[in-house]
Amino acid sequence: MKKIIIAIDGYSSTGKSTVAKRLAKALEYIYVDTGAMYRAVTLYALECGFIDDGSDNFNPLIKALDAIVLRFEQNPETGQSEIHLNNKNVEHKIRTLEVSSYVSKIAAIPEVRKKLVEQQQQMGAVKGVVMDGRDIGTVVFPEAELKLFMTASPAKRAQRRYKELMERGEEVTYEAVLKNVQDRDLIDSSRDVSPLVKAKDAMVLDNSNMGHEEQFQRIYQKALEIINS
Ligand code: DC
Repeated sequence: MKKIIIAIDGYSSTGKSTVAKRLAKALEYIYVDTGAMYRAVTLYALECGFIDDGSDNFNPLIKALDAIVLRFEQNPETGQSEIHLNNKNVEHKIRTLEVSSYVSKIAAIPEVRKKLVEQQQQMGAVKGVVMDGRDIGTVVFPEAELKLFMTASPAKRAQRRYKELMERGEEVTYEAVLKNVQDRDLIDSSRDVSPLVKAKDAMVLDNSNMGHEEQFQRIYQKALEIINS
């Protein structure tokens, strides 16, 4: 059967990864969470003390980029692909509000994007991949056979994220989460390098009032149509 690239872009907390994982499983494709890669670089920068002085001097991080090795590995217990930073599983550590509050700044650094985009292109070179992020359909794989752009209202997205963080035992307020969602939207959409924009040929999915099953079915059917064409 023909293998394709499925590019899923959109705002944070729109459920991109939930639908992407399910699609990858149903099609027996590889799932790549590119947000996890930007988060892992952010974690590295935080752990090295490169971004704790409030200044925007990212030179130490840029100089250290070659020392950052990212790899996805399947967790045999969950069957999920998880990110490893320099041989350590950091899948959970990259999901804190602290990492979330710095990641947009790190993702706006051109040298960081160049490194990660190259790695993403290598991972998708053989096709049969579902990749989610912000610039997959526009920059990483402008030739992807299926492109989706997911969106939902900021309040809805903050509710989802708040619930997730509470379930994980993080002490956060809904207001802080909403502010983080809004701040990230602004930085992600207005940065100079690869801003979050909808690819012209992307299918838009506003899931403010749409359940997981309906979203999945719509995208899955579209994917099968393309694969079988
Ligand atoms: O999808 P996420 O929330 O885990 O992504 C974390 C951050 O990384 C998000 O604020 C934007 C950035 N990002 C990006 O700039 N480009 C991508 N392809 C993926 C994520």
